[in-house]
Amino acid sequence: MRSCVDGPDRGDGPVTADRTTIRAAVLDRPGVPTRIEELELDAPGEGEIRVRMLASGVCHSDLHVRDGEWERAGPIVLGHEGAGLVEALGAGVAERYPDLRPGALVALAWLIPCGRCRACRAGETWLCSASPSYTHRMPSGRTALHRPAIGGEAGDVLTYSAIGTFAERQNVPAAAAIAVNPATPPAVAALIGCCVTTGVGAMTKTADLRPGSRVVVIGLGGVGLSCVIGAALADAATIVAVDRIPAKLDLARALGATETLLAGDDDAETLAAIRDLTDGGPDVCAEAIGLPRTIELAIASLPTGGTALLVGMTPFGVRASFEAFPFVDGGRRIVGSNYGSAVPSVDFPRYAELHLAGRLPAERLVTRRIGLDDLEDAFAAMRRGEGVRSVIEFD
Ligand SMILES: NC(=O)c1ccc[n+]([C@@H]2O[C@H](COP(=O)([O-])OP(=O)(O)OC[C@H]3O[C@@H](n4cnc5c(N)ncnc54)[C@H](O)[C@@H]3O)[C@@H](O)[C@H]2O)c1
Ligand SMILES: [Zn+2]
Ligand SMILES: [Zn+2]
Repeated sequence: MRSCVDGPDRGDGPVTADRTTIRAAVLDRPGVPTRIEELELDAPGEGEIRVRMLASGVCHSDLHVRDGEWERAGPIVLGHEGAGLVEALGAGVAERYPDLRPGALVALAWLIPCGRCRACRAGETWLCSASPSYTHRMPSGRTALHRPAIGGEAGDVLTYSAIGTFAERQNVPAAAAIAVNPATPPAVAALIGCCVTTGVGAMTKTADLRPGSRVVVIGLGGVGLSCVIGAALADAATIVAVDRIPAKLDLARALGATETLLAGDDDAETLAAIRDLTDGGPDVCAEAIGLPRTIELAIASLPTGGTALLVGMTPFGVRASFEAFPFVDGGRRIVGSNYGSAVPSVDFPRYAELHLAGRLPAERLVTRRIGLDDLEDAFAAMRRGEGVRSVIEFD
């Protein structure tokens, strides 16, 4: 069996690989710091490919797990916003996924459809309730990563959403790897894997914005700023960008926001300013943080017929409330948006082409380029609201 650890084989045929050693960020259990460890990665099994990671963004969903706000089994390699080069193919992949040739640039999807549940059968794969991605294992049920028996506790290691992108190399289900135009910068391809698809899709697909809409986006991280980009792509007439960090407002303007609003501690004041800037309230108010108070603010801001688009994710068990009578009387709506209602095989290449055409400036979201060892610093910066996306670049 040939080893392919020295780089991708650019030939046309299937490429096999040996077990290899990689560095990755492992979380033993939610709530403790990640550690960079050397792990053993199996050869890709049937229906799997090995990817040499080029870039991985750090998303707040990783931080939710890191900080113990979302329960997950461990040990697990976090990271779900990545891109890399196809390095080796497991059995059956070449026949079924002709795009996944060794050397192809792929953006990785954190949700692959099971193909059998009601949502998948209806073509709404972003609502899949039985996705193998949620098991954090390969679709076969196995894990491809292991702690070596010597120099630590031996055992299997899970991979977040079955892609675990905080790793130099990773085996992923072939269905999670979407080939994009190779001219796409790796950092942008990585962000297409989560925040770009989530935010742009929330506006253009879930909310299906009409041209001329009045839109508010609360929270301007990678997800919220992608909502701003999506609103601009959909020809919204008014885009009000709201955050508590002034630098985020400047970036939002550069990405298409027509108005910005610095949120202070007084939510009543923010609410009044939103109504003022949107001539009585927005058609769509997107919440891209995941806090009850900003979710309630988004709902309260709606005029008759308005929609609160919930994109931010709260810690498990958190509730938000609203006054029911005016909500019903005014025909208002609350809509959750998962993964920007994406069909990755269609939407990832499309977002990459929009970027290359200069219409989706995702590179502006990258505010720090870091190494794998800087992951905990990137989490700390995100907690402080500093910068937008930290992107890990692999050698
Ligand atoms: N729906 C989905 O499919 C999906 C996908 C990816 C991420 N998410 C979720 O989206 C959320 C945002 O992710 P991100 O990576 O952009 O996070 P982030 O931490 O980079 O951004 C959050 C932003 O909210 C701002 N903020 C915090 N409190 C605020 C307040 N009270 N008022 C105004 N602004 C405030 C921060 O300054 C920051 O700019 C997270 O909850 C994440 O889990 C959802
Ligand atoms: Zn994410
Ligand atoms: Zn399904």
